[in-house]
Amino acid sequence: MQPGRILIVDDDPLVRDVLAAVFAHSGRYETELACDGRSAIDKVKDRDYDIVFTDLTIPGVNGIDFMREAVKLRPSLPVVVITGHSTVDNAINAMREGARDFITKPFNVATITAAVDRIVGEKRLLAGIERGDSRDSFIGRLNAELFKKLQEISILQSVSAELDTLYSNKAIYEKIVEMASRLLMVRQAAFGIIEQGVLKIRSAVGLSTRGIPVSGTIFEQVVATGRHHLAGFGELSPHTGRPLTAQYLAVPFTLNGEIFGIIGLADKTDGAAFTADEVSLALTFAKKAAQRIENNALYEVFYNNLINTLKSLVNSIEARDSYTKQHSERVTDYALRIAETMGLGSEEQDALRFGGYLHDIGKIGVRDTILLKPDRLTDEERAEINLHPVIGGNIIKPLRFFPKERELILHHHEHIDGTGYPDRLAGEAIPVSARILAVADAYDAMTSSRPYRQARTHTHAEAELRRCSRRQFDEEVVHAFLQVLKETGAPA
Ligand SMILES: [Fe+2]
Repeated sequence: MQPGRILIVDDDPLVRDVLAAVFAHSGRYETELACDGRSAIDKVKDRDYDIVFTDLTIPGVNGIDFMREAVKLRPSLPVVVITGHSTVDNAINAMREGARDFITKPFNVATITAAVDRIVGEKRLLAGIERGDSRDSFIGRLNAELFKKLQEISILQSVSAELDTLYSNKAIYEKIVEMASRLLMVRQAAFGIIEQGVLKIRSAVGLSTRGIPVSGTIFEQVVATGRHHLAGFGELSPHTGRPLTAQYLAVPFTLNGEIFGIIGLADKTDGAAFTADEVSLALTFAKKAAQRIENNALYEVFYNNLINTLKSLVNSIEARDSYTKQHSERVTDYALRIAETMGLGSEEQDALRFGGYLHDIGKIGVRDTILLKPDRLTDEERAEINLHPVIGGNIIKPLRFFPKERELILHHHEHIDGTGYPDRLAGEAIPVSARILAVADAYDAMTSSRPYRQARTHTHAEAELRRCSRRQFDEEVVHAFLQVLKETGAPA
């Protein structure tokens, strides 16, 4: 029989070589390679192929565009999309655009050969249909395949859509349990993270949230093999220690080859055993959800790094001026206590926690000769210092996910009567977090020593805040702050 022809389009030489080696080994296919979109199109123009494998990101043209153009040239050409694991959504897109299959990296040889066999088999059957034989068996098989693939895609899509809107791990864990119990139709589900040999349950339905030692339970086998375990009657429930009365499916959650968590699923609502399809669905679900947790962990690492960088920037400003040491920290502390007393929501409190620390970050753009000047400032020098909220706002601007923090930094020198800077906002037009910060900032400035004066007493600062209420400061904020100081004591 004549060998089949396969075109491999990928800019990664390793992927091209591995695939070529797989097909060479089978002895049934000849391969041709292309490393960019242009040369791939030229090849498709030149001759017909049994299958084209393409990466989604190839130089010169987007993988989907390449596929569209290739299929325009040869409408029956089967294209299989290969994609990095983080781009499952793109793969779903590719299927919608007419790809015959998608394979995620890192792939194994069996997946590749199974995809090829299936597509080539379909092609042969199709040729058979044209000749008039076994049409029904072909359609039956094709429908089953398609149904399975569509089901998998729609599940991946809904998992990705539902989990992608969540940004806290707690919310993700709860959603994982809720979705898994819905997808697999079980009454009991529990998801836990392994910490020091114990599976600490983070979310559960129908099962207790008590931690479970991995050793001596069915989880031990899951961790040892890295594979799921379907426990049957006679085995012991890891949750109760009693013999199971229904099947219990334990599926590992893996990051970078390490098992970090397990989901347990039991007690199907239809009373039946788990089918092979359901087990594979649970595995697909766990893979996608683990990926979402990984993204979240990456986000947290990124977020923490960023905050630490900005904090060290603030420290460097405060280090220039020994009088303002720990000023930002104290101001944030006061501001958070005011927000709590005023009953503000967690969004405002979060903005103050981060923004309070960074409120004077714009001072990094103010010259030392002005910032540290022991004498009275000239009008020009005052104008330069007064630019710091705008400079600070610009520093934060590229971080689009901190809009409230930016508002706070930009407006912490506005006055309630509209005479402040930079925008002369008045009353409620000033964000409440900025009104709070203004009071905390003024109090701390008065009660700490300055190059040009000694620290004032608490009594003096309190009288000053009252005096400037309704002109400079929000009366309600001043009231809340004085209450905070009364309750927790003014700083010594
Ligand atoms: Fe300031």
